Amino acid sequence: MDTTQISTNARDGDQYAHCIEVSKRIRWDIEDDVIRGRRFDFDKKFLPDGLSKVNELPFLSEAEKRFVSQIQGRTYANMFGLVERFICAKVLEVSREYFLGDQVALEALVRFSDEELKHQELFRRLEKLAGKQMPAGYRFLPQPNEVAQVVLGKSTWAVLALTLHIELFTLVHYRESIEPDVQLSDLWKDVFLFHWKEESQHAVMDELEWVREDRKLSAEQRDRAVNELIELVTAVDGILQAQAKQDAEYFVANCNRAFISEDVAAIRQTMLNAYRWQFIISGVKVPRFGKVLNGLITPEQGERIASALATIM
Ligand SMILES: [Fe+2]
Ligand SMILES: [Fe+2]
Repeated sequence: MDTTQISTNARDGDQYAHCIEVSKRIRWDIEDDVIRGRRFDFDKKFLPDGLSKVNELPFLSEAEKRFVSQIQGRTYANMFGLVERFICAKVLEVSREYFLGDQVALEALVRFSDEELKHQELFRRLEKLAGKQMPAGYRFLPQPNEVAQVVLGKSTWAVLALTLHIELFTLVHYRESIEPDVQLSDLWKDVFLFHWKEESQHAVMDELEWVREDRKLSAEQRDRAVNELIELVTAVDGILQAQAKQDAEYFVANCNRAFISEDVAAIRQTMLNAYRWQFIISGVKVPRFGKVLNGLITPEQGERIASALATIM
């Protein structure tokens, strides 16, 4: 009998059971717990400076810096709504393997996907609220279903790698920059607090499922999956480039003053730097992500990923 295999599975089983227990205990409601009839306070920032990178724009007034953080906060919420579309679909797909098997793992994954559906609804509500209070003209360009079609066309290994990366940076953003910032909008802070509570379990399950998927692959399949992961990150960067340009134009158009062309270029570049930091680089730098990834790939594959990232970082 292979006792190593049994103890590994038992440990995975404990982790799924723990995810269910926490998920039940911290379960929250969009209106009763998070929004509570509130509106956004536009005297406050929506994102902390460490994420919005506004200090790279010293020629802006404090009010203008705050406006940058509010536009980025709106895009941040929309980006989560976008990625959660494909994350939810992939988690439901992965859960099929447990339909007639481990019912604890199945329940944990069903709760995971249910929470992502709720988060998408939360982020849609926030977009509506922001739309009522912010100047007209804001546009979130990427379409969640179109992006999901592209992402879900890649191998499960690549999608789970991207998903773990996303859920880990969500946790880091909250713990390291959103939670300690006293100048953030209270409603916005609560959004990230409640989101963080449920995302903590998601990251555990992403890792379990990614490692489990990895065990099924041949060396050739994994090598192709590494290339697909690079393609996904490049696609995310394409989305960020387009949205950064869009958000910079919206900012400039609603500032009630003229900017010289060098300053417009700087605003556009800072938007892109901020989005790349938020959605790509900060996740790559999470030690847990590197540890899991490097445990699955060869040094050559690691170098391939690093040289692709070098063009973004
Ligand atoms: Fe989420
Ligand atoms: Fe999640």
